[in-house]
Amino acid sequence: MAKSLPTEDDIPSSEPARSIKIITVGGGKGGIGKTLVSSSLAIALAEAGTRVVLVDADLGGANVHTVMGIHTPEKTLHDFISRKVKALSDVIIPSPIHGLQLICGAAGSIGMANMEYADKLKLIRHFRRLLAEFVIVDIGAGMSLNEVDLFNAGDIQIVVANPEPTSIQECYNFIKVAIFRRLRREFADTKEVLEVLDRSKDPSHVHDRRLLTEIGEQVKQVDLREGVRFFRLINAFTPKLILNRVHDYRETLEGLALQIATQDLLRLRLDFWGYMSYDPYIAKAVRAMRPGEILAGDSENRDRFLKMVQQYLLGQNVHYRSIGTRTILPIVDQQPTEKKEGRICSQECPLWQNCELQEGGLPCRMPDHMYRERLGGNLLTAGK
Ligand SMILES: Nc1ncnc2c1ncn2[C@@H]1O[C@H](COP(=O)(O)OP(=O)(O)O)[C@@H](O)[C@H]1O
Ligand SMILES: [Mg+2]
Repeated sequence: MAKSLPTEDDIPSSEPARSIKIITVGGGKGGIGKTLVSSSLAIALAEAGTRVVLVDADLGGANVHTVMGIHTPEKTLHDFISRKVKALSDVIIPSPIHGLQLICGAAGSIGMANMEYADKLKLIRHFRRLLAEFVIVDIGAGMSLNEVDLFNAGDIQIVVANPEPTSIQECYNFIKVAIFRRLRREFADTKEVLEVLDRSKDPSHVHDRRLLTEIGEQVKQVDLREGVRFFRLINAFTPKLILNRVHDYRETLEGLALQIATQDLLRLRLDFWGYMSYDPYIAKAVRAMRPGEILAGDSENRDRFLKMVQQYLLGQNVHYRSIGTRTILPIVDQQPTEKKEGRICSQECPLWQNCELQEGGLPCRMPDHMYRERLGGNLLTAGK
């Protein structure tokens, strides 16, 4: 059993808290190119002049070091998890790419498999203390709690899939497992909501019994405030899709199909960030351990990844538009059961101060009878 990790506060930090973005890269299946996509994002970000740490959290099949041209890393994440070293920064090693550092994995180590949920969260908090602007976490294959919890802990969550039915299906399942896990964690202390979630559970993860929005409506029936929280959570969960091993532009339709399925069947927004073409040169670069050639100078993948990170991660307007993505509006409140008398939430509202449903500028979520009831109460208190 792994010992619990030191809390971040045990470790002296030479730096004040900085803004750092954790990007987690998952997607279920092995061999679809999660490591290649993570590495390409990391290389593109480093080339754009940012400080990046690429972390290999795939403990079953760690290979970031190989892709990055390192035979046997002298220090790995496992040294930190097993408390051989005290600080996560002690296991950072340089990479051949300027601006990009690595935390390698040790294949076959079991450290993470034994990690408690609290320790996983601690690990992410340690990531946040690294001296970098971006930390990219390459997550292992599979969708056990280890992978899913790490994936969910990212500020930006990227899923990778190949344009073939099995991979698309697996990726869809991964997203579904991830949102259900997140909801269960968020409502861990609310028995009533857990019961609603349990009732809609589909053990095979294949057939969707119920839309998330329908589950949200049920939660609202049980507890209005928790229902609103539920909708906020599903609105905020917006993974990004990068399709890999695309032979032909038309194959991006598979990515669109996944986007539509996620949106229509789960009511989750999946942003389609783009794709990586199949390029035999990539396998050659990996075999020759020459990471600098993964995004080779004249390749279309290079152009695409540089633009992708500029547009989506660095907020620069480079007029990169991936594909014909279809984006849905945030799923705010669903199917109002009662007419809300056309009220718009604003500071002008007499209930503004004490309203847990506050959402300025949007249509009021409070049922009319409750509004009137509370308004009465408010006037009474105001008159005291
Ligand atoms: N776009 C691509 N074009 C050609 N080969 C690729 C591409 N992406 C991945 N590969 C090959 O597939 C192998 C597996 O990819 P990897 O990123 O390790 O998958 P995962 O991390 O999902 O298990 C890599 O070693 C690489 O040679
Ligand atoms: Mg991998």
